Amino acid sequence: KIQVNNTAALGQVIDQEQVAALRPAAEAAALKLEQGTGLGNDFLGWLHLPSSITPDFLNDIEATAQSLRSKCQYVVTIGIGGSYLGAKAVIEALADNFAAYKPATTHVLFAGNNIGEDYLYDLIDLLKGKQFGIIVISKSGTTTEPSIAFRLLKDMLEQQVGKAEAATRIVAVTDARRGALRGLATQEGYKTYVIPDNVGGRFSVLTPVGLLPIAVAGYDIKALVEGAVEMEKAGGDDIFTYATTRNALYRAGRKIELLVNFNPKLHYFAEWWKQLYGESEGKDHKGIFPAACDFTTDLHSMGQWIQDGERTIYETVISVGEPAHSVVIPDDKANLDGLNFIAGKHVDYVNKMAELGTRLAHVDGGVPNLLITVPALKEKYLGQLIYFFEKACGVSGYILDVNPFNQPGVEAYKKNMFALLDKPGYEAESKAIKAKLGK
Ligand code: PA5
Repeated sequence: KIQVNNTAALGQVIDQEQVAALRPAAEAAALKLEQGTGLGNDFLGWLHLPSSITPDFLNDIEATAQSLRSKCQYVVTIGIGGSYLGAKAVIEALADNFAAYKPATTHVLFAGNNIGEDYLYDLIDLLKGKQFGIIVISKSGTTTEPSIAFRLLKDMLEQQVGKAEAATRIVAVTDARRGALRGLATQEGYKTYVIPDNVGGRFSVLTPVGLLPIAVAGYDIKALVEGAVEMEKAGGDDIFTYATTRNALYRAGRKIELLVNFNPKLHYFAEWWKQLYGESEGKDHKGIFPAACDFTTDLHSMGQWIQDGERTIYETVISVGEPAHSVVIPDDKANLDGLNFIAGKHVDYVNKMAELGTRLAHVDGGVPNLLITVPALKEKYLGQLIYFFEKACGVSGYILDVNPFNQPGVEAYKKNMFALLDKPGYEAESKAIKAKLGK
């Protein structure tokens, strides 16, 4: 099972007493989650979601995934934020690093997670004449970025295979009743899955939002859910250790948490984590700023700042026990590169020494260090990690005394964008913003 160790976070900025002092608040937070008595208690569907997933439900998702895989060389998953990052994180953590360049039955691609004209042009260009399908994911069913991508790709798919066949290659994941996507899916007869009302986007990876694309990519969603169930049932100590230590550090002036990995496959896991914690805690002018680095890559760019810059950070390292494959550094008689001192060693051994050396150096440089160890990048451990971070986020948000389950601040850019685009219903905002810009 994954494990948390906060020993190297103690002794400089905070001590064990400050962490222990937050334990009652963490336990009270967990109780509020359990009893549904805290802020945002209408969005607690994720709390016992893993253990409520039935084998029949997973079989149905796998059957849909198989149907898409049997017809499509590419399946484009359309969604943004919580309707995108969980699937992307798990797929990248499990996939071959060069999957995009190797033959595969089905490639899972992503769209609707930006408004890049060239991105969409390049995607459309790639899909021309190809067998492709679409999973369109939006809880609200009205988000602009995925709506644009879906309009373009739906049109293209219908032109390539006809409207009736296109309808068999499009799956919609959305609200049970509300939103434009629900209406459209009903009208067009798409297969649909529901995002439960009480599960917010960033907590939705273990719903069909994440499970369907992950299954289409060929990964074991049963093992993923099994891992999450294990963590849901285990509860307690590691979750409290993480939540209390990070809040003690925050109170001691460490406002930035840097989530670091020594495995490039975890890059998007950190992106998922950034959304989970950033959107949950960054409110009421409070909240730890979630940042991330990929090591050793970023030690050659950000390493100087981390070692020596302003002391407002702490680090959380996700350490992966075993790589999936074995590569040994060869001996070289001439030794012109001077590397024979590590000849015969696994690349991962060198990586682990870099990891240990970095942790020691950063602690010496005044960066408190939390360590999360994951035995291997496998579905089961990723499931544990997902639930671990979700639960710790709820606990941590309540310790911080914010509502961890809303995101009112996300609306501000949308309001301005709609006003600037003259969206019907935004007439007053359009007038006001144009006056502000002097237009
Ligand atoms: O966490 C959230 O609620 C957001 O990131 C949403 O997931 C994101 O904005 C996408 O929303 P929707 O699924 O309604 O298109």
